[in-house]
Amino acid sequence: MDKLRIAGGRPLNGRLRVSGAKNSALKILAASLLTEAPLVVGNTPHLHDVTTMIELLGSLGVDVTVDEGMRVQVQAANVHSQRAPYELVKTMRASFLVLGPLLARFGRAEVSLPGGCAIGARPVDQHLKGLQAMGAEIELDGGYVRARTRGRLQGRHIHMDIVTVGGTENLLMAATLADGVTIIDNAAQEPEIVDLAECLIAMGARIRGHGTRSIEIEGVEALHGCTHSVMPDRIEAGTYLVAAAATGGRVHLTHARADILTAALERLEAAGAEVAFGDDWISLDMTGRRPLAVDIETQPHPGFPTDLQAQFMALDCIAEGTSRIRENIFENRFMHVQELNRLGADIELVSASTALVRGVDHLSAAPVMATDLRASSCLVIAALVARGTTVIDRIYHIDRGYETIEEKLGGLGADIARVR
Ligand code: UD1
Repeated sequence: MDKLRIAGGRPLNGRLRVSGAKNSALKILAASLLTEAPLVVGNTPHLHDVTTMIELLGSLGVDVTVDEGMRVQVQAANVHSQRAPYELVKTMRASFLVLGPLLARFGRAEVSLPGGCAIGARPVDQHLKGLQAMGAEIELDGGYVRARTRGRLQGRHIHMDIVTVGGTENLLMAATLADGVTIIDNAAQEPEIVDLAECLIAMGARIRGHGTRSIEIEGVEALHGCTHSVMPDRIEAGTYLVAAAATGGRVHLTHARADILTAALERLEAAGAEVAFGDDWISLDMTGRRPLAVDIETQPHPGFPTDLQAQFMALDCIAEGTSRIRENIFENRFMHVQELNRLGADIELVSASTALVRGVDHLSAAPVMATDLRASSCLVIAALVARGTTVIDRIYHIDRGYETIEEKLGGLGADIARVR
């Protein structure tokens, strides 16, 4: 099993190109099921999760071609199966996003209940409730969701009980081919949903209000193909900015968008970083200083993203002062706490959702283990600042969401290598 070996203590310094957003690319690829025409998806990140989605689509009969620049052409003209098997869905929760498109276009779907990162229960009740409201008959059988509809799905006014990114996306895609108008209230506002909606609009969907709490979709009879370039990955961008800040370094990110990272950039400035940005770049300079402790509370977008919570905790570990980190989106998203403490951090879990981080002046290398995707990147950041050489085990979690992380960090001057 691959590991990362990192010799800490070097401030990061350099330029970096941000990859396409994993959480947008996966949904856009799933949207290809809505039409028989080809969809060409540019700026697709080269990631394990993307490969899993391509494999899943291939198993349904979607023709997939990938060119050298990771431009992916997907065409769902010969779909012969509406079944997403457990073996694929268990490794990646986003596989569940084929449910809405399959049901809307073919009137039936059978999708395994999801797995993915081990960060809490993560139910899908809101996805199912919305589809049922649109006329789907749904039963759970042997770990599978079996959904059917007689004729087209029906446009409905749906109020989501909680804000869910995947739930909003499944219903958004399903509603594009429904009969009549669907309104999704209390919708998630994440930028990746906006990217998906813009791709769907380019495919002929009629959507308004994406990026707000209420999305209106007027169903159409059929969608057509389009070419779409995936938006930049805000979580990858945020991770490298935090890494630069924690090491007292500086970084210039290209293909990065500051407008979708406002909450995180504000926290970095509070930590003492000098942040500047333009339309498609962000730069950060810590001018060699030790960060100041910053409190974090995760919220749905535009609040502080849960996917950057672990990385900021790594920064807080070596910051000046004490910080409080509250996780409101997922239960059990503090698995990195134990590993950070192994590196010499002083973190106390004051409740299941609140951690108190007392900044220490240095961390020390130790063997650690990645437990989920974002927890892994927090261990990378901690290893970059720690004294000595840290080996991080189980980094397959990182490969799910970070493109060539060792090359990118190496380009910024980190002493990092992949070892077996
Ligand atoms: C997506 C992102 C993930 C990010 C999360 C929150 C992808 C592939 N993943 O995950 O990186 O951390 O958004 O920004 O885009 N919930 C329910 N019932 C449901 C659906 C969700 O109770 O039907 C709960 C979940 O258990 C969780 C919370 O709602 O506690 C948020 O989940 P959700 O927004 O759906 O996250 P994902 O779409 O899975």
